[in-house]
Amino acid sequence: MCGIVGYVGPRPAAELLITGLRRLEYRGYDSAGIATLDDDCTLHRHRTVGEVDNLARTVAVGGAPGSTGIAHTRWATHGIPSDHNAHPHASSAGDVIVVQNGIVENYRELRAELQAFLDAENRSWQSDTDTEVIPELISRQLAAGRSFEDSLAYAVGRLRGANAIAAFHRRDPDRIYAARKGSAGGIVVGYGEGEMFIASDLPALLPHTTSVHHLEDGDIAAIDRDGVSVRRSGEPAFKPTPREVDLDPIAIARGPYRHFMLKEIHEQPRALSDTIRGRARLNPPNALPSDLNLSDATLREIERVLVIGMGTSLHAAMIGRWWIEQIAGIPADFDNASEFRFRAPLLGPSTLVVAVTQSGETIDTLGAMNHVRDRWGAPQVVITNVDGSEATRQADASIVMRCGPEVGVASTKTFVGSLAALYLLACRIGRAQGRLSQDDLTVHLEQLLTAPSLLERGVQRAERCSEIAQLFGSASNFLVLGRGIEYPLAMEAALKCKEISYVHAEGYAAGEMKHGPIALLDHQFPVIALAPRGPLFDKMTSAIQQVSARRAPVIAIGDEGDDELAELVDHFIGVPPAPPLLTPFSLTPVVQLLAYHIALARGLDIDQPRNLAKTVTVE
Ligand code: G6P
Repeated sequence: MCGIVGYVGPRPAAELLITGLRRLEYRGYDSAGIATLDDDCTLHRHRTVGEVDNLARTVAVGGAPGSTGIAHTRWATHGIPSDHNAHPHASSAGDVIVVQNGIVENYRELRAELQAFLDAENRSWQSDTDTEVIPELISRQLAAGRSFEDSLAYAVGRLRGANAIAAFHRRDPDRIYAARKGSAGGIVVGYGEGEMFIASDLPALLPHTTSVHHLEDGDIAAIDRDGVSVRRSGEPAFKPTPREVDLDPIAIARGPYRHFMLKEIHEQPRALSDTIRGRARLNPPNALPSDLNLSDATLREIERVLVIGMGTSLHAAMIGRWWIEQIAGIPADFDNASEFRFRAPLLGPSTLVVAVTQSGETIDTLGAMNHVRDRWGAPQVVITNVDGSEATRQADASIVMRCGPEVGVASTKTFVGSLAALYLLACRIGRAQGRLSQDDLTVHLEQLLTAPSLLERGVQRAERCSEIAQLFGSASNFLVLGRGIEYPLAMEAALKCKEISYVHAEGYAAGEMKHGPIALLDHQFPVIALAPRGPLFDKMTSAIQQVSARRAPVIAIGDEGDDELAELVDHFIGVPPAPPLLTPFSLTPVVQLLAYHIALARGLDIDQPRNLAKTVTVE
């Protein structure tokens, strides 16, 4: 979602800011903008719809001199994507420049309040955004004689909703400011030699520094080329101690792959091996031996597990529910975090809440976690790919996947990382509860250790997926059917088709198909059937027969060498046979590759699909 970068130092700011924006492109955006201030305090502001390349071209023509500046990629919430709605926004007096990530929930109220001032000065709003109230609020305080920091703190105090903000004062070319309220994505300050950076996320800082400080909720920061001074809820200002991060810039390069998504699909075997390394021990059998900060005594008290998430993480949560029931042997459920947070379910302290969120910043998942803490005090575990993310700060315990940075907006390797963490957690709970014997635990862990090779072999089916995509690339609809543990995967397959191929796709439980969707089927409506051999295989083949009887073409994904199934369907993709609980690992690469190749056949922008964001920091 929106990306913020800022710079203050001796170098020309524009090029650094635009490069920073490019490194945040993976978050998803629809327009971009930049504002720099030169030594004479002349403001240079450019805003363009579409890609950062458009902004770069405009800056090359119009110029943006100055060594202080802020820039932004916008993901529209209030007002269409357009030049005038793109950030940075300026106050009506032109003295305050602001970029923002988040939503000002009370912007109508604030606009109404500020309208009288604008009317008195015969000025008007310049955009349709909620953001524009922020520079206006700051400007009014400056006019009343307050300092910039006090004015920013006042403005932030007036905003309802989660927001991250960067700003500068038109008459002060030596300083930029940042503020964070709630969980609208983060703001990271980067320390250079005689220069300082800010950004929404680490990839924008890494070419310049690995020495960083994350702002916390409520922080107001003033940044000049020598450092940062932070004010937090009325306490005296302090200079934070930066910490070193060890992200590898090479890991976020695309390498020989055409798209990050393809690279990340191929990285899955390694991401899974890295995530389970040291956490699936066999002699003696032990799951998550050291890094789950919850005691066996706490886990023994648990009577129920609730797994929550959004998007791909919700589908991982659904599979996690299945494993917790089957492996740990205790009641488990899943919920969509955005719905759960506004329900009044009866949890109590004996429910363990497991939040799955690759970014650790999804606002609905964080909202649901808050809801759990405030209302029931139930213990919470977060499964995330970002150590130090907001979710890890809120949870009682974290399982951090080790997938490396994921750049493709549509999650792939973090899906399998989440699955691995959920599987291990199910094993650990089952053992702590005494419901899983040592021998059964050994079997489950041995099976999990084969998962990287299942993924590896699945990834090798790219060519077959490409052939199928050539045949069906122009279809307008897909139905994806699965049963049991494959049903959530059918939903994930459909989500991938929607996300990157822009094709309408529905993931359905095969048994439910005849209660409605079957009415849609005809020879132009392809159906993808997830049908590995397992306890529900016969029921899947019945559903396939029902589809074929309506002349809808069937693409089945089943066990390699399953000639009986291959004969039954129009097109067949074989995957390595897997134990019944492990089929999500054998099938995942193939459903991802199918969506990828359909998108490729349709000539779409795979890494930055329209309207989507990787880190969803607004409700
Ligand atoms: C966005 C991303 C998805 C992701 C979802 C949840 O929609 O595009 O790929 O699954 O957010 O994100 P989270 O970070 O909570 O897993």
